[in-house]
Amino acid sequence: MYRITDWQPSSFDDVVGQEVIKKKILTTLSAAARTGTNPPHILLLGARGTGKTTIARCIASYLNTELRGPFNAADLSKEKLLRIIFSIREYNIVFIDEIHELKPALQSLLNSVLQDFTFATLIRKNNKMKEIVVEIPPFSLVAATTDPHRLLNSFRSRFLRIYLQDYSKHEITMLLKKIMDKFKNEYDDAALELIAYHAQNPRDAISLLKFACDYAITQDAEKLSYDIVVNALKTFQYAQGLDDIHISYMKKLYKYGTLSLKALSSMLNLSENTVTKDIEPILLEKGFLKITTKGRSLTNRGRRILQKTLGGFGAER
Ligand SMILES: Nc1ncnc2c1ncn2[C@@H]1O[C@H](COP(=O)(O)OP(=O)(O)O)[C@@H](O)[C@H]1O
Ligand SMILES: [Mg+2]
Repeated sequence: MYRITDWQPSSFDDVVGQEVIKKKILTTLSAAARTGTNPPHILLLGARGTGKTTIARCIASYLNTELRGPFNAADLSKEKLLRIIFSIREYNIVFIDEIHELKPALQSLLNSVLQDFTFATLIRKNNKMKEIVVEIPPFSLVAATTDPHRLLNSFRSRFLRIYLQDYSKHEITMLLKKIMDKFKNEYDDAALELIAYHAQNPRDAISLLKFACDYAITQDAEKLSYDIVVNALKTFQYAQGLDDIHISYMKKLYKYGTLSLKALSSMLNLSENTVTKDIEPILLEKGFLKITTKGRSLTNRGRRILQKTLGGFGAER
């Protein structure tokens, strides 16, 4: 058994599922390539772990160009955004992640650049204000969001919108097979099906697969069998119904003590909605988390649980 290390496809051939979307994107990209025109700006919509960043990477590599980014929208000040815009070269693919975090004023600014690839600004010359228009080489913006309704309508309508679809258990199993084959690991089909059954999306599935393989290695197993996966699942983390995102969340609080919702979401690269709706309820229910006017922090129980989990689950992901 080998450890599963990196799995970051940059070719559509390695993207499992999402057949309709792949066809749609490939048609558009190949039409652009054949006619020597700029591909459209693309907005990838989907929950965390469903393949948005992966698809952005595949788009750039299909076009034989480097992906500029990912830039995280929450980190973009006007200055930073302008620096990116002014450094664009013809046909670059610029990737902005969690684009709904971009301040509305910056959404407008970017929108006007996307409209005709110019940037108009006022400068002072001989004590008079004068408008100058800077031309920006044509480029394509690929943006990802988990929360599209936080985008300005006019901005959102600028994009070709691609809605990532949910994965069936079968597709997740196929993905796990692909990864196991790439790493030359032996497995029972039922073992991978069991992992797929416990995962919500590719990211969770891969993280569980990594863990199961690590577990198999520590058990000196020759292959990933069904029993090994059952035992791996029984270990603390999944028995608690927590997944890696809960653990990442708890680790931040463990490290920093008390944090605001805003700080936590930006550290975890998730929308506030996802944090309050997907992550916190289970932690509150289990009594691992408390929320006060000062912010979020772990309860003593939460800290104990995390220490125990980390003991078994290893380092920062
Ligand atoms: N359709 C897919 N085919 C193959 N691997 C995928 C697919 N979707 C996601 N992954 C893998 O799952 C992990 C999370 O995907 P990512 O693109 O980072 O998701 P997102 O950006 O939507 O949060 C990565 O390791 C990625 O390579
Ligand atoms: Mg991503």
